[in-house]
Amino acid sequence: MSKEQPDWPEPIVRVQSLSESCSDSIPERYIKPSTDRPSSTSSNFDDANNIPIIDLGGLSGADHRVSSSILEQISDACKEWGFFQITNHGVNPDLMDRVREAWRQFFHLPMEVKQQYANSPKTYEGYGSRLGIEKGAILDWSDYYYLHYLPLSLKDCNKWPHLPPQCREMFDEYGRELVKLCGRLVKALSINLGLDEKILENAFGGEEIGACLRVNFYPKCPRPELALGLSSHSDPGGMTMLLPDDEVPGLQVRKCDNWITVKPARHAFIVNIGDQIQVLSNAIYKSVEHRVIVNSDKERVSLAFFYNPKSDIPIKPIKKLVTMDRPSLYPPMTFDEYRLFIRTRGPRGKSQVESLKSSK
Ligand code: OGA
Ligand code: NI
Repeated sequence: MSKEQPDWPEPIVRVQSLSESCSDSIPERYIKPSTDRPSSTSSNFDDANNIPIIDLGGLSGADHRVSSSILEQISDACKEWGFFQITNHGVNPDLMDRVREAWRQFFHLPMEVKQQYANSPKTYEGYGSRLGIEKGAILDWSDYYYLHYLPLSLKDCNKWPHLPPQCREMFDEYGRELVKLCGRLVKALSINLGLDEKILENAFGGEEIGACLRVNFYPKCPRPELALGLSSHSDPGGMTMLLPDDEVPGLQVRKCDNWITVKPARHAFIVNIGDQIQVLSNAIYKSVEHRVIVNSDKERVSLAFFYNPKSDIPIKPIKKLVTMDRPSLYPPMTFDEYRLFIRTRGPRGKSQVESLKSSK
């Protein structure tokens, strides 16, 4: 596969514009095959079926009993779910609300303003409406905005929105806070894997880790039973911190053959393991498939913050996690190479990380 991506294969249609113009039907391009539709599997909405909620207050405190109990909860959640929510995480709840609200306002700006930020598949930065460049692909019911925080060499504030006023400063502060939080979490994961606390961060490239944000905008959909806001996928990067909509649920996580609809806790982040941590941990931790459903009467906004390895270093299982009993499952691959798959073919469940394994 060449590193040079061509442009979008077809003219881009903003899902938000479709949502505003269509009243009771959706274009065929957004209709999923019957096996992928939300109604074809059961989903549950009771507390026993929610992903674990972990209170991080005390993780870095002096009380060892408290911190080891938190570490244990994280360890269990990583093994059993690959997904959990965190509260008392140290990020100012007011900042979380303001940032989500500013993004909502951005998506409500006039279309000609947003179009100034239209993205291309070369870097994906900016305002976009599809993931993948296959001509004729069935598309997801969402628009998004994608931007880089780290490495600093990729951070280009000219590609960030300049409206609503002062949003860049706010988005910048949000990025700094989330990088710190991700650093604390990968430390916890390293300890839980029986490794030196710095190992994962160093494997990610230390000072040169990657961090980026995808803000998802899911407009109202007149036929939510036929479409998906985001098709099933695992996140290709290291770890994701999702700030979900404060009012509208939509994220579903795969648990065996069921799709569990996540019930967000107030001011919590939803954390999930990405493919690169699956590779580094030699599959002790696994990335988990998830998708987003839409609904007919409410739009939804979510912010997915991705903490990724430096993109040009080979990522492979950490030495200490490769043993006679547990040989290395994955050949080395850079994240640049790895993410070409999703950027070309779009979201496809866990097919990429699974194909790596069988190709070895
Ligand atoms: C993502 C993602 C979930 C959501 O952006 O990768 O899984 O709830 N988003 O929007
Ligand atoms: Ni995701």
